[in-house]
Order: sequence, then structure tokens, then C-alpha cells
Amino acid sequence: MSDTSPVIEIQNLHKAYGALEVLKGVDISAPRGNVISLIGSSGSGKSTLLRCCNLLEDSQQGEVLFKGEPVTWRGTGHGRRPSDAAQVLRIRTNLSMVFQQFNLWAHMTILQNVMEAPITVLKRDHKDVEAAARAYLDKVGIGDKCDAYPAQLSGGQQQRAAIARALCMEPEALLFDEPTSALDPELEQEVVKVIKDLATEGRTMMIVTHDMKLAADVSDHVVFLHQGLIEEQGPPDTLFGAPSSERLRGFLSATTHAA
Ligand SMILES: Nc1ncnc2c1ncn2[C@@H]1O[C@H](COP(=O)(O)OP(=O)(O)O)[C@@H](O)[C@H]1O
Ligand SMILES: [Mg+2]
Repeated sequence: MSDTSPVIEIQNLHKAYGALEVLKGVDISAPRGNVISLIGSSGSGKSTLLRCCNLLEDSQQGEVLFKGEPVTWRGTGHGRRPSDAAQVLRIRTNLSMVFQQFNLWAHMTILQNVMEAPITVLKRDHKDVEAAARAYLDKVGIGDKCDAYPAQLSGGQQQRAAIARALCMEPEALLFDEPTSALDPELEQEVVKVIKDLATEGRTMMIVTHDMKLAADVSDHVVFLHQGLIEEQGPPDTLFGAPSSERLRGFLSATTHAA
């Protein structure tokens, strides 16, 4: 039997920015090989939740577990921080993030962008990393762009480079924060295709998206966040086909009309 234990799990997570409570006790789990989508209105806390998973944000209460291993903390409340730097590095390098705005280094070629973190952070062998980077760029369909700079690429190509960069870390899971939101509709589809291929391969992924069709197509489980709490969650067929909460119904009809 394949291992479906959670790669990432959060339990009763609370997160505030100063007095603004953004996450009010959220539980979420990404079993190995599963795709979890997070949907919800702007400001509902989706990005914050994703960033709490790989410890890019501090949280004040609740647990974050990576492959069953709880993050260790020191301090409490707004003073709470992870206490083990090696653990933070291990978690962060194993949960590669893909951002809405690509965040590629403008002064590096596409190949250099993909090779940077495996070499500087993971101290991997240059030759091995280069071979892997070229293979991942091929995989996302831009193997011919190795020597180009980000500004010479379309948004869709830049985002595919960012996905190759995330893959080159050989992470346990991929975290996507609105990966298609900055793209024109025709470029959006080339990125959607790459994400679908990764889902088919059995990659563990958490995806924040406004694209309900993408969420419906690739997810094993969909979570609807509303004002820092999970309002409804379930398999995509149920969530999109027979939503039980009034708020989710409202959200879905608003997003469908906007599309
Ligand atoms: N760095 C920050 N400092 C203060 N407030 C923030 C910060 N980041 C996000 N917020 C606030 O937290 C809430 C949730 O934001 P976010 O997680 O980005 O929502 P979403 O991704 O669902 O649109 C919003 O009210 C937002 O303004
Ligand atoms: Mg966001």
C-alpha cells in the first residue's frame, strides 16, 4: 500500500498580525500524493495559511507538523518562534513555494535561477544540479530557454521556470500561491497543464487558487476558507457540486460570474 501519511499538517493554528486575527484555529492536512486546494475570498487568510505551513510566517498558537514531526517552539503568543533552525531549514527546503509573481532573479539566466538554491542551500554537486535543472526545464516545456533572462520570457514561461526551480529542490511537497493569477488567460493554460501533470504524477501539493476549474480538476480535497476559519471542506465533487454552506454558494456564484 502506498504511504498516505501527511507530509504537512497543521492543527488549531492561530495567526494574527498585531491585533488583526487572520487564522482563528485552522486544521489542515496534506496526505502524501494528494492535492489540496484552498479557495476563499481575498483576505480570508489563504496566503497566510500557506506561508505558515513552511514557516515563512510565525503563528501564535497551534501545531505545524512536517512528516509527523512537530515544529518545536520557544516563547509564547506574539513571542513564539521556531526554536530549531535546522528543523526550519529542513521544512522550508522540503516545501517549495511557487508565488503569484514568479519571484525569479532578474540578473540570472533561467538555468541559473533553477540551479541557485540546490547549490547554495542544499550544497549539491554543480554538475548533478545542472543536469537536473535542464531536465526540469524540459519537463515544463522551456528547455530551450536555459540561457534567457526572465525579462525575455512571457509570464507563462516565467511561471513554468519558477515551477522548475521549485522541483529542482526535490521537495516533499509543492505549495502554490495563486500560480495563475498574474497571467493572461491563454498563458494561464500552459501553467495549468504543468500543474495537472504534476498532480497526475502523484506529487503532494497545496494550491491556493481563484481558478475553480483547476481546483475541481486536480484536487483530492478542497478547503473553503472564510475569515480565517474553514467554512466547508470536502472532495471537489461535493464542494463544487453540492455546497452546503450559504457562504460557499455565494462565493462560487460570484466567482463563476466573474470568470
Ligand atoms: N504582512 C502582513 N501584515 C499585516 N496584515 C497582513 C499581512 N499579510 C496579510 N495581512 C492581512 O491578513 C489578512 C489575510 O491575508 P491573506 O492571507 O493574504 O489573504 P488571502 O491570501 O486569502 O487573500 C488580510 O486582511 C490581509 O490584509
Ligand atoms: Mg493571497
